[in-house]
Amino acid sequence: MKQFQPSDALKRLPEQFFAKLAGKVNRYVEAGYDIINLGQGNPDQPTPSHIIESLQAAAKKPAYHKYPPFRGQPFLKKAAADFYKREFGVDLDSETEVAVLFGGKAGLVEVSQCLLNQGDVALVPDPGYPDYWSGVAMAEADMHMMPLLEQNDFLPDYGSIPNALLQKAKLMFLNYPNNPTAAQANEAFFNETVSFANQHDLCVVHDFAYGAIGFDGKRPMSFLETEGAKDVGIEIYTLSKTYNMAGWRVGFAVGNPSVVESINLLQDHFYVSLFSAVQEAAAEALLGSQECVEELRATYESRRNVLIHGLHEIGWDVTSPSGSFFAWLKVPDRFTSEQFADYLLENVQIVVAPGNGFGEFGEGYVRVGLLTSEDRLKEAVERINTLDLF
Ligand SMILES: Cc1ncc(COP(=O)(O)O)c(C=O)c1O
Repeated sequence: MKQFQPSDALKRLPEQFFAKLAGKVNRYVEAGYDIINLGQGNPDQPTPSHIIESLQAAAKKPAYHKYPPFRGQPFLKKAAADFYKREFGVDLDSETEVAVLFGGKAGLVEVSQCLLNQGDVALVPDPGYPDYWSGVAMAEADMHMMPLLEQNDFLPDYGSIPNALLQKAKLMFLNYPNNPTAAQANEAFFNETVSFANQHDLCVVHDFAYGAIGFDGKRPMSFLETEGAKDVGIEIYTLSKTYNMAGWRVGFAVGNPSVVESINLLQDHFYVSLFSAVQEAAAEALLGSQECVEELRATYESRRNVLIHGLHEIGWDVTSPSGSFFAWLKVPDRFTSEQFADYLLENVQIVVAPGNGFGEFGEGYVRVGLLTSEDRLKEAVERINTLDLF
């Protein structure tokens, strides 16, 4: 069989760190172990039934069996704009300031190809969601990592970025509530971000995947709520987490019309938008009853309380997450992140994601997902307690 060589662009793609972890876990599953998998970010609850029913009804419409309109159904873009007005008080023009996406991940990879040339620099949070790296690599651009440190509440310190580098920087990724650190941003930080972006001609891409999941009464802020934000950037929203629709692949980019236009242009060449029935059900999710969202948020908060309380009781001094559905836990001193993740897997069959998989500054932490029942989280704490670590 002939072996065709992938393009240089594909060869530049970063290694999928977590594929290695999945391989290790599978060996334990195949050997029949009762694994508690807290390593992934896949929502465990079903999509609310009114959204599924909307898809079922829409799937029967013959008009939807034809190609959808390029750039998405106008009703979905209007729903996204109405959702932003209702949830965040943000005004958007649904035709020029909303791009429909095949999930947030697609938009996050596409935006680098839309805006970056060879040798440009993208500012990227470290630790951070690894898909930011992929688009930058495909565009043959360079990354400058912005450390997210606990002593700075996991916000980047713009003052520490060298000036020479800022001259080449075109794009900056941010993500709050944050994966993996579970931190939230605040108004002052977003104001500083708008000034910084203006000063250095940067396009800000705020990944708002966990926009519905804030704890202790702290509602996550949309970047677009900040004065001047639309002038300097976009926000990427996904239905995956808010409505348990990760398998449906629906999201949207909103904000700066020139960036929205570039994303649409790129997508015109790749796709003909999503199945219209999925678009109709997505509009139902955004505009229908939002009770399911509050229930889901409360479920994660309650799971968070069980986990963090349990870990404190067994003597593990961890910080309580303020948003997202992750907890970011400092590992005991004698371990690296990977050693600790392996130790938990080998000894008590608990899977956690080693922090170094999210970047150099993730070293010393593991990420735990709140994506299983309270009973399983309690059991995880009990298993960890048998190790006598603290
Ligand atoms: C920080 C962050 N951004 C974006 C995504 C992408 O979500 P989706 O492609 O399902 O919209 C995820 C999913 O895990 C995420 O954690």
